[in-house]
Amino acid sequence: MKIWIKRVLIGLAVVLILMQFWPTDRPETIIDNPNDIHQEIVINTEVSNLLKAACYDCHSTEITYPWYSNVAPVSFWINDHIRVGSRHLNFSEWATYTAKRKRHKLEEVFEEVEEGEMPLESYTWLHSEAQLTQEQVDLLVNWAKSEMEKINVEDES
Ligand code: HEC
Repeated sequence: MKIWIKRVLIGLAVVLILMQFWPTDRPETIIDNPNDIHQEIVINTEVSNLLKAACYDCHSTEITYPWYSNVAPVSFWINDHIRVGSRHLNFSEWATYTAKRKRHKLEEVFEEVEEGEMPLESYTWLHSEAQLTQEQVDLLVNWAKSEMEKINVEDES
């Protein structure tokens, strides 16, 4: 092997190793959040299982971290998805949302799912259970629509 190639490879290895010590502010996993959407409304098991399998890793505090989420730089990327995803929509903070926000979020849910934008494609590469069939898409879409219609924004004071 050419000496410069060797040096570059060693350099890369050192960078990768040092990267592992870089501090990460990984979002904490909290199960049974009192403000979770499941505490507020009854969700049928099928829909609930879908939400938990396909959305909860990025849109709740009930995060399951796979082993590779500990390995930098993959960890930076995953943590960022979780942070950004739950900032947009957090099912574990559902009860704290205003009626207007809930309606809007449910509308976004069915739009994103209907258009195949959610779950993120990069997530379904390694989470085959989150790869939704057309039937599952319809189920989620219909659920979000019907929950949305139940929310009366006029209730808001
Ligand atoms: C791998 C992480 C990940 C998964 C899994 C995931 N999302 Fe997202 N979601 C994001 C991120 C990140 C955003 C922020 C916007 C963007 O980057 O598209 C987002 C945005 C959204 C939004 C838009 C919210 C807004 O106010 O703009 C909705 C709605 C949504 N996701 C619903 C879902 C649903 C429903 C599922 C499950 C079927 C799901 N997501 C699965 C990461 C994820």
